[in-house]
Amino acid sequence: MGLEIAYGNITQEQANRLEQAVGPAPDGVPHEPGGAEPWISRLVADFVIATGARTVLETGCFKGATSSYILDALERLGGGDLHVCEIELGRLAGTVWRLANDSSLVSVHPHEGDVLHYLATTEDRFDLAWVDDNHEKPHVTKELSLLIPRMNPGGIILGHDVYGSCDLQEVFAKFGGYSLNLPRLGAAGGMGLIQIPHPASLAVF
Ligand SMILES: C[S@@+](CC[C@H](N)C(=O)[O-])C[C@H]1O[C@@H](n2cnc3c(N)ncnc32)[C@H](O)[C@@H]1O
Repeated sequence: MGLEIAYGNITQEQANRLEQAVGPAPDGVPHEPGGAEPWISRLVADFVIATGARTVLETGCFKGATSSYILDALERLGGGDLHVCEIELGRLAGTVWRLANDSSLVSVHPHEGDVLHYLATTEDRFDLAWVDDNHEKPHVTKELSLLIPRMNPGGIILGHDVYGSCDLQEVFAKFGGYSLNLPRLGAAGGMGLIQIPHPASLAVF
């Protein structure tokens, strides 16, 4: 019973304590290995609420765990748009199905295929982005360079797996960002943050 730890930086007891503190996912679906740690999903959702984001992008939705937290946060804010980009069609379809049961206040926009192609061709703009697909350094570097021009002023980019085996701190730093080393279940974890400059002191979307 409890979260599966594989090369993580915490004990089973610590993981259970954190999981208990977070509580169940908004849609009640248990955590699945490969998905973001529940406390990370919660943190992403809290950033959505803290910024009043209306349009959010998740790159690499996998089984839709963090997507369900984001959807719940947008719903609490009165509605919005959630774009999910995923290279595996089955995962994208499963996520859309999972989210469809949850809300009518939030429009879900699925994008199938490579996120680099999506970002290079879309005219969509985002208040917040959760970057969690391919974590190789050249890919993330290209991804951030395409994503930053698609962000609204004051918008926030959050990225997973910046510490541990993926080691993306220098990539986030290159774009003016910062990396947090946080408890993780797998070989990589933590969160990168980049805020897009805003002419006014605060951006509330
Ligand atoms: C670590 S999982 C994502 C976990 C999820 N974001 C969460 O918070 O639970 C990574 C996902 O990215 C997808 N992916 C990998 N490369 C991709 C790419 N180039 N474009 C879009 N999705 C990609 C994978 O198929 C996989 O489902």
